[in-house]
Amino acid sequence: MICNLIDNHNRHLNYLRISITDRCNLRCMYCMPNDRLPKLEHREILTYEEILRLVNIAVKLGITKVRITGGEPLVRRGVYGFLERLTAIPGIRDVSLTTNGLLLGQHMARLKEAGIKRLNISLDTLDRDKYNLITGYDHFDRVWENIIAAWRAGFAPLKLNMVVLKGVNDDELEKFAALSLRYPFHVRFIEYMPIGMAGIDPSQHVLTPEIMRRVGVLGRLEPVANGRQDGPARRFRLPGAPGEIGFISALSHHFCETCNRLRLTASGKLRACLLSDEQIDLREPLRKGCSDRDIIRLFRLCVQSKKAAHRLAENMRIKSQMSKIGG
Ligand code: 5AD
Ligand code: SF4
Repeated sequence: MICNLIDNHNRHLNYLRISITDRCNLRCMYCMPNDRLPKLEHREILTYEEILRLVNIAVKLGITKVRITGGEPLVRRGVYGFLERLTAIPGIRDVSLTTNGLLLGQHMARLKEAGIKRLNISLDTLDRDKYNLITGYDHFDRVWENIIAAWRAGFAPLKLNMVVLKGVNDDELEKFAALSLRYPFHVRFIEYMPIGMAGIDPSQHVLTPEIMRRVGVLGRLEPVANGRQDGPARRFRLPGAPGEIGFISALSHHFCETCNRLRLTASGKLRACLLSDEQIDLREPLRKGCSDRDIIRLFRLCVQSKKAAHRLAENMRIKSQMSKIGG
């Protein structure tokens, strides 16, 4: 029986984002700028079995779409076997993955075999030195190679995420957007969100209207219709481009009214909103042997708590780390 998750603002939640680890093999300045952040211990992280049980329950509640995130999901041992089992769950129509692309090279075939069709890859710059500055590692060439290989392997659409920061990578906006003229990539400009301890100064934020104006020098941005399942990006295409350009604007433009998401953190907390610290623990109930009905009740509780809109514009900062919640 399908009994949908509908919140108090009549949003139908059918999309679950799952962070499977808080670990990462990069140190992006806006996410995990240093090694002092406390790491979750092994026993604090949900096992694959636990996650799969939760997804099986979530499917009964109308979840049809899952995204796996981290940290960097591909650093967790056993991830490919897990993905295979996840995509095999009846009722899940779409499983995608957000990755920094570093480990893709060796594992492209296994990802395909596991049933992953779509990838989001973080790539905040097209410049090797700057990649080093932003992520702390000299891996640009490898990631770019992997992006091209993923494209050739048929992952589509391939989305490239750029978190825009003034004085860091905002001189590359046009170059980045121009990728959509050359490749069928979906380039996505993301406004920096004040989450965790990154300590990016508000003067470094670049808002979407400014990004759009800059990218507009390449040609007229033609809107692309957004399906109900497409999430918060506002999508455009440059004339004749094989790819697309999207804008994710948590600060300058509320996308909350069409939000269809729930999030499961690496430590088993269910969150109704990325941009709110409210969360409900599922790990302890799971480990105490609760029934599926108890879990369903907790899902519903979480959904009822989902606010109409986030309040980031009122100068708040989210305390949780992005690497634990998943982007
Ligand atoms: N603000 C905006 N986007 C972020 N990401 C990580 N941290 C932030 C932040 N503070 C995004 C990156 C990455 C994805 C996992 O989350 O674009 O691609
Ligand atoms: Fe790792 Fe992604 Fe965070 Fe960068 S943004 S440190 S790649 S989890």
